[in-house]
Amino acid sequence: MSAAGTANPAGVALAAAASEPLLELRDLEAFYGDAQVLFGLNITVGAGEVVALMGRNGAGKSTTITSVMGLVARRRGTIRFAGRDITALEPFRISRLGLGYVPEDRRIFTDLTVLENMEVARRPARPGVPSWSVAQLFALFPNLAEMPDRPAGQISGGEQQMLTVARTLMGNPRLVLLDEPSEGVAPLIVEQMAATIVTLKKQGLSVLLSEQNLGFAAAVCDRAYVLEKGQICFSGTMAELAGNEAVRGRYLGV
Ligand SMILES: Nc1ncnc2c1ncn2[C@@H]1O[C@H](COP(=O)(O)OP(=O)(O)OP(=O)(O)O)[C@@H](O)[C@H]1O
Ligand SMILES: [Mg+2]
Repeated sequence: MSAAGTANPAGVALAAAASEPLLELRDLEAFYGDAQVLFGLNITVGAGEVVALMGRNGAGKSTTITSVMGLVARRRGTIRFAGRDITALEPFRISRLGLGYVPEDRRIFTDLTVLENMEVARRPARPGVPSWSVAQLFALFPNLAEMPDRPAGQISGGEQQMLTVARTLMGNPRLVLLDEPSEGVAPLIVEQMAATIVTLKKQGLSVLLSEQNLGFAAAVCDRAYVLEKGQICFSGTMAELAGNEAVRGRYLGV
């Protein structure tokens, strides 16, 4: 670290980030046109934490994530990330601050190869954040390593899901927003995805993921928030959620 008295705006920002959650949503409300879908959410993700956003279809999980990325036009409340208020920033600026986003519908470039999909997302390393090379990501996703030159439109849905995560990691994010990583992929890939997220956590990456699969969330997450109709109806550790039959039955259907 630089000595006291040295002007270092980046160092100052990092110090600020250490004393507060890495990501903090305060009183978040979101609207589609006149329809309000989020009602005052308070959510935090600490540095190095993996946190689940759970709840049934339409509960507001994806809207929470897209709101953080600045992709929902009408919002109220405050979103802070790494010591900064990002509420009013454009999505590309939010991304450049180190917020990675894996959308629900993957959005890979189908005409580009696997490797090209990864290369287009490359960003410089960030101080204090795990940084990724193609070789490291191929070690993390061996399936992708076997097909670097294949057009991404010709790989399986599960492989595309892995590619979206690999592409996001090429940006060396501080925190990744993962929208339903286990949805619509084969059970074997779900297991691999869970193992991958556990590995990423060990490397120090922070994650906020949306998930309906309690088994998956229990395997990879530290804490969960359960949403129902755009409101938080439960927040606690995974063990507390597992032990709370009423919440599981009413809001998760398990
Ligand atoms: N683009 C949109 N325009 C209008 N309403 C929307 C739009 N996207 C989502 N909604 C509505 O907002 C509410 C929250 O949806 P959201 O997609 O955030 O839920 P979700 O928890 O991610 O659900 P799922 O598990 O199905 O992905 C739902 O009532 C949904 O119908
Ligand atoms: Mg969703």
